[in-house]
Amino acid sequence: MYVCNCNGVTRREVDEAIVAGAQGPEEVLAHHGCEPCCGRCLPEIADGIACGGMGRTRSLVAAE
Ligand code: FES
Repeated sequence: MYVCNCNGVTRREVDEAIVAGAQGPEEVLAHHGCEPCCGRCLPEIADGIACGGMGRTRSLVAAE
């Protein structure tokens, strides 16, 4: 599942960047050689960082 549609970055790839030490959404995208375009994914990625991974995001909990 894509988190960043502009760059084709998936949830798994976001988690890889978090595990590698990315501290912010821009660093997550940069880890995969990308940079923000529209910026719509940045809050979701920031939520994933705050929760320790995309599997624990508040947005997913809210959707369940
Ligand atoms: S969806 Fe990530 S920059 Fe547009």
